[in-house]
Amino acid sequence: MNEFGFERLRRAPDVEASNLFAYDATDRLLVERALALSAEQRLSGSDIAVIGDEYGAITLALTDAGYRGIRLHQDLVTGRRALARNADELGISGFESHELDSSLLEGARLVLLQLPKSLAELEEIADAVARWAAPDVVLVAGGRVKHMTLAQNELLGRSFAEVQPQRAERKSRLIVASGALAVPAQPPHPQRAEHPEFGLTLVAHGGAFAANRIDIGTRVLLEVLAGEAGSAAQLRRSARLAPESRRDHAELQNSSGVMPDEPQVVVDLGCGTGALAAHYALHHPEAHVMATDRSAAATASARETMMANGVADRVTVTHDDAGSDLPAAGADLILLNPPFHLGASVHTGAATRLFAASARLLRPGGELLTVFNSSLAYRPELTRLIGRTEQVHRTSKFTVTCSIRR
Ligand SMILES: C[S@@+](CC[C@H](N)C(=O)[O-])C[C@H]1O[C@@H](n2cnc3c(N)ncnc32)[C@H](O)[C@@H]1O
Repeated sequence: MNEFGFERLRRAPDVEASNLFAYDATDRLLVERALALSAEQRLSGSDIAVIGDEYGAITLALTDAGYRGIRLHQDLVTGRRALARNADELGISGFESHELDSSLLEGARLVLLQLPKSLAELEEIADAVARWAAPDVVLVAGGRVKHMTLAQNELLGRSFAEVQPQRAERKSRLIVASGALAVPAQPPHPQRAEHPEFGLTLVAHGGAFAANRIDIGTRVLLEVLAGEAGSAAQLRRSARLAPESRRDHAELQNSSGVMPDEPQVVVDLGCGTGALAAHYALHHPEAHVMATDRSAAATASARETMMANGVADRVTVTHDDAGSDLPAAGADLILLNPPFHLGASVHTGAATRLFAASARLLRPGGELLTVFNSSLAYRPELTRLIGRTEQVHRTSKFTVTCSIRR
C-alpha cells in the first residue's frame, strides 16, 4: 500500500500543542501487524475490531488500505469527533463506531488494542474480547515500552491461554494474545462500592477515573458540599460578598433581579463516576443536575451510579466534550474537579478548557466550585475566565474555590 499520511491527522477538538501528537509509533506497529496478519489469514475489514484508537490513526490507515467495515471503540468523545473530522478531511469512510459491547466484538477474529492506562480498563477489555469475539480471535495489544508493565501480561493471561510479548521496536511493543479462555458468568466490571460516610454508592467501569473509590480531591469537595467544612451555601455567600465582589453582586442584582440562594440547575462537569452529581441530587431534590464527561466509561458508570442512588430521574448524564451540547448561561452552579494529567505529561490545557466551558455554561452570578491541588495556581486563571474567585476551603493538599460568573 502507499504509505498512509499519519502526519495529516489532527487531535482537534482535543487539546493541541507542539508536544502532543495525533498518532504514535504503536499505532504504526499495530497497523503493520494487522496488515500482515490480515493478508496471511485472509481477513476482511468486518473481521477486525479496533479498541482505543485515540484519534483514528489505526482505523483510518487500515480503511485506507482497503479494509472496509472495521468496527472500532473510542472511549473519549473528543477522539470520536477527531476521528470524524480526520476521516472527512482525508475523504475516508466505511468503518463503524460502537460502544464497548457485544456489537463491537461479535465474530471479530482480529482485535487491535492501544493498551489503556489503567489495569482495570484492560481487564474489562480483555474479558469483553474473550466473551464476545470469535473463539479463534487474536488480540494484538500495543503500547509505549516505558508505560508497559508485567501486570498487563498477567491480566491478559486471565482471559487468554497464550500471551506473547514481542520484541520492542521504535520504543513500542506489541503483545499477541490468543486462545480465548472461558469467561466468568459475570464480567469483572462495572464494580460497585458503598461510601457510607457520604451516603453514596458508586458504580465504576474499568476506564472511569478513581474506579469505585472516592478520589481525595473529590472527597474534599464533597466535604464542602456536605457542610463538614462549613456550610456550602454560607461559604459561597461569603465568597460572593468578599469586598471586591460586592460591587459585582449589586450590579448583578440590579440587572437580573433576585438571585436564588438554592441553585436549580447544577452541572457536574467532568463527572467521572458521578459522585458529585449523585451527592448533590440526593441532598437537593428540587435541583436538576446534569452530569457530563468526555469518557464513555465515565458516563456509563455515572448512569449506573445515579440508578444505584435512586436519583436517575433527576440527573441527566451526557457524553460530551466540556458540556458543548448544554445551553449557554443556563447553569446556576457548576461542580468541578478538573483533570491535570493529560496523557503521560502534566499539562493544564485540559483544566483550562473546563474553566472556559464553565464561563460559557454559567448564568451571570452563577457559581463555579472547583477543587484542585494547592500547588496549582489556578486562581488568577479562574478570575480571568469566570470572575471573582475566593478560597472557600483548604486542606494540606487541596484548595476549593468559588468563582462568581461576572
Ligand atoms: C479528576 S476527574 C474527576 C471526576 C469526578 N468529577 C470526580 O470528582 O470523581 C476529571 C474528569 O474530567 C473528565 N474530562 C476531562 N476533560 C474533559 C472534557 N473536555 N470534557 C468533559 N469531561 C472531561 C475526565 O474524563 C474525568 O472523568
